[in-house]
Amino acid sequence: MQRLAVLTSGGDAPGMNAATRAVVRAGIARGFEVLGVRHGYTGLIQGDFLPLGPRDVGGIIQLGGTMLGTTRCEELRTSSGCARALGQLRAQRIPALIVIGGNGSQTGAWELQRGGASVIGVASTIDNDLHGTDITIGATTAIDVALEAIDRLRVTAASLNRAFVVEVMGRHCGHLALIAGIAGGAEVIVIPEVETDPETIALQLRNAYARGKSHAIVVVAEGAKYNAQALAHHFGEHGERLGFDLRITKLGHIQRGGAPGAFDRMLGTLLGTAAVDAAAQSRFGIVVGMRDGKAADTPLQEVAGKMKPADVRLFDLAQMLAT
Ligand code: F6P
Repeated sequence: MQRLAVLTSGGDAPGMNAATRAVVRAGIARGFEVLGVRHGYTGLIQGDFLPLGPRDVGGIIQLGGTMLGTTRCEELRTSSGCARALGQLRAQRIPALIVIGGNGSQTGAWELQRGGASVIGVASTIDNDLHGTDITIGATTAIDVALEAIDRLRVTAASLNRAFVVEVMGRHCGHLALIAGIAGGAEVIVIPEVETDPETIALQLRNAYARGKSHAIVVVAEGAKYNAQALAHHFGEHGERLGFDLRITKLGHIQRGGAPGAFDRMLGTLLGTAAVDAAAQSRFGIVVGMRDGKAADTPLQEVAGKMKPADVRLFDLAQMLAT
């Protein structure tokens, strides 16, 4: 019986468990013996494998995080770490490895593939910044968590006629901020893809109040030049230009910890199964993502080291609607 190993890597994302469950159950259905690797690439380097059967992945589809554990593994970036990981796959007679993770994880997957392993990536990160896929596992749930926070902040902002800066995650990509900002009806959105001067933000906020708004919400991406910290510093020194009180909230890791919504459970399930299908057909060196509503492959080489920026057309739309 052919062996298939699965690991989760990098930042956890809601829906990773659904993907793991699908890999295990679809893998067994397709005749594979499935092994889980604990704690991402660190566990792979250390040979931390566990056999997984259908019951081992029962009751996890609704859980955030990842039951396999995950790490940000610096060692895999070294040639000795990569060689040790490849050695473990050979020693365990594992011809196929499925890597559920985001940018850094798929770059690692490409290094393993180049080293002789047969790897299939599954697109999973809350940042939705992976090249070759319209959407990644976890992004939609993270946006919903941010959205709930924004809705709550608007209530208190409107009561006190305040402005709020809400910083959301996303690393160097503005997707989370853009979608949460539009869906949350933000007055201003600040993303790394569009340069924004803090004085323009001040002007937009003053105008919002002048137009009779009782509140103003600024959604900023952590990767923007003027993120929460930079804006706090700027308006700390030039607060009088705002003309009203400003409060700052940084959502941070709260966005990653949510229970996956229906979309991420389905996406994890579909992409996990598609990865097993690829393994059964010996299609390796790819990342499985979603394009135009269907599971679609992209060569690992094209994904590794690249970043997909947010769709700036939506930024223009947001500006038009924030009147
Ligand atoms: O890549 C997912 C992500 O949550 C980013 O949005 C964020 O910048 C980063 O991970 C945080 O990493 P860590 O959990 O290692 O602090």
